[in-house]
Amino acid sequence: MLDALKDELLSQVNAAGDLAALEEVRVTALGKKGRITGFMKELGGLSPDERRERGQQLNALKDEIAAAIDSRKADLARAHLEARLQAERIDVTLPVRPETEGRIHPISQTIDEMVAIFAEMGFSVAEGPDVEDDFHNFTALNFPPGHPARDMHDTFYLPDAGDKKMLLRTHTSPVQVRTMLNKKPPIRIIAPGRTYRSDYDMTHTPMFHQIEGLVIDEATHMGHLKGCLIEFCRAFFDVDDLPLRFRPSFFPFTEPSAEVDIGCSRKGGELKLGNYGDWLEILGCGMVHPNVLEACGIDSTRYQGFAFGMGIERVAMLKYGIPDLRTFFEADLRWLKHYGFVPLDVPSMAQGLTR
Ligand code: PHE
Repeated sequence: MLDALKDELLSQVNAAGDLAALEEVRVTALGKKGRITGFMKELGGLSPDERRERGQQLNALKDEIAAAIDSRKADLARAHLEARLQAERIDVTLPVRPETEGRIHPISQTIDEMVAIFAEMGFSVAEGPDVEDDFHNFTALNFPPGHPARDMHDTFYLPDAGDKKMLLRTHTSPVQVRTMLNKKPPIRIIAPGRTYRSDYDMTHTPMFHQIEGLVIDEATHMGHLKGCLIEFCRAFFDVDDLPLRFRPSFFPFTEPSAEVDIGCSRKGGELKLGNYGDWLEILGCGMVHPNVLEACGIDSTRYQGFAFGMGIERVAMLKYGIPDLRTFFEADLRWLKHYGFVPLDVPSMAQGLTR
């Protein structure tokens, strides 16, 4: 009689097509009111010998059915996974769709291009916070308190933090300070990022981007500075004979300091970059002032180096013919579709900066 029950239950287990059906079979057989449980309850009415024998048989049956249910459960789970893998299969060898909806903002693209060029020259990327203190943004950069050059920065000041005067960084140069305080020379970094000045017109927005460069070593000199920037500008603007002019200038944190102009033509109201006799200013640079090295714990009798800083919007506008700075930050999708870049065109020196 138990053999018949066993066959019946086993065939039910094997016929269960999913986990719910299997659970139903389990309840019918082993649940509180299940059939095997029912027989167990009858054991009390038997003689001790019968009870032992019958009890052993029922236990064996119970174990066998439970094992069958477990193994069926594993089979169903495997089959379920298999079906899911089949249904969700994708062919990863298919070509990527070239036209996707989103666009890379020209600022991001320009930063990627700059990083690609400087990475090739051995620079690594450094970062610093947008919210700075007066020490990193000014004092350590040789702007003593009350120095008139501080006023040229139209600084956004924030509520003081303890005895620290806080502000939104007005340039990326504080990253120079943070890098020198944390790293021993030789140093070769670029630091792209957001900067802030209280100003707004055709050529100024309160938030804009700069990229900073810093090289510190024992024998680094102005020739290296010139070579580095000439190389960069020619690669970035993709003009092989682009002339650069280094004009004496002033920054508190560099000595000597220079502003760099690139060759251009403005004939007929159209701006063209190249060797045409006219000039356009694009960046500031110089040899790091010994006071800055010392403020950052670097021995200025042993080490020297150069720094440069450049407005990213400005060079992006020049390179991509974008006329109005303010449009960069208006989040106009039509503008972004026009001036933005296809996400998969990642700039690299090997594949070309822009394709
Ligand atoms: N920080 C300067 C500015 O914002 C640019 C600069 C950087 C000049 C590094 C010299 C060296 O105008």
